[in-house]
Parts: sequence; structure tokens; C-alpha cells
Amino acid sequence: QGKTYQFKLVLLGESAVGKSSLVMRFVKDHFDEYRESTIGAAFLAQTISLDDNTTVKFEIWDTAGQERYKSLAPMYYRNANCAVVVYDITQSASLEKAKAWVNELQRQADPNIVIALAGNKSDLDSRRAVETETAQAYADEAGLLFFETSAKTAHNVTQLFTSIAKRMPLD
Ligand code: GTP
Ligand code: MG
Repeated sequence: QGKTYQFKLVLLGESAVGKSSLVMRFVKDHFDEYRESTIGAAFLAQTISLDDNTTVKFEIWDTAGQERYKSLAPMYYRNANCAVVVYDITQSASLEKAKAWVNELQRQADPNIVIALAGNKSDLDSRRAVETETAQAYADEAGLLFFETSAKTAHNVTQLFTSIAKRMPLD
């Protein structure tokens, strides 16, 4: 029998970039065209089985991106083992906001936190405002995992969470 590991994961990013939608896709394999903005934060859990017979259970805190909830975020990232910082590939300003969250995590969260950057809404390529190469270069420089994802089509959603699981210390 393999081992099970449990990690706290926090999602951060501007309102409407698709944090809750990514979690819904990952946990329930479901997408809502009309999803209500998160109030405070939401908690969900999901497990992933890795090839080597280990199981990783993510306890997920999906935070609210609206400015009025900003002061709550430290409560959720303080004891997080990993973070997904999300931006919307059609909104350049959302990448700047994501960078600010990465800076805050790198200064205030656990020094060993594993951070992934997710450029969500990759299905809206015709409205793209952030080039893949630009975000990839930033992610490399900041030491982040990076994926372009779509909660709508499910593109790269499992890959995002699996790559985080594989990056966690499993011993
Ligand atoms: P807050 O809770 O306010 O912080 O927002 P959020 O980041 O949780 O965004 P949410 O998941 O509520 O999604 C916002 C809107 O974007 C919804 O209308 C979703 O249907 C839509 N959306 C989310 N992900 C995608 C995606 O991958 N592609 C497209 N086309 N739309 C998406
Ligand atoms: Mg939400």
C-alpha cells in the first residue's frame, strides 16, 4: 500500500480570473458559464494518485479576489504548503496583480511554499493580451511552475495540480 500525503493549497488572484472555476473543474469536473463571485473563501478537498502508488490530498482554500477581501488572504496563505496564483490571459492587469501576490507569498508565506502560476481562459486565445513567452519568462525568473489553463475546456487543469503534487516533498 502506498502512502497518503496531505497539503494545504491556496488560490490567489484578481476577481473573475477563474480561481473558483479551476477548483470546480479539478474537484467536480464541472464548469459554470455563470459563477458567482466568491464571498470570503471556499474550502474543498481533492486527492490525486501519482504513478508511484502515492496519494496526495489537497485541502484547497479558494480565496475571494475582490479588493474588499484582500485583508483575509494572509489567514489562508500563512500555513499553506502550496499556492496557485491565477491570472486571465485576456487581461494584462491580472498578470500584474498575480506578480504582486507572488511577491507577497515569497516575503510572507512559508519559505518552502511551492507556487504555480496559472494563465487561465486559454480557450479565449483570440482575445489574448498576455503572450505565453512573457509569462513563462517571468515564471522561470521567479521560480514558479507555469501552465496556461482553461477551466472551461479542462485544458491543463489536471496537469497543473499533478505537477504541484510531484513538486511537494514526499518522504
Ligand atoms: P472571485 O471569486 O470574484 O475572486 O472570482 P474567480 O477568480 O473565482 O472567478 P470565477 O471562477 O468565478 O470565474 C469568473 C468568470 O469567468 C465566470 O463567468 C466563469 O464562467 C468564467 N471563466 C472561468 N474560467 C474560465 C475559462 O477557463 N474560460 C472561459 N472562457 N471563462 C472562464
Ligand atoms: Mg471565486
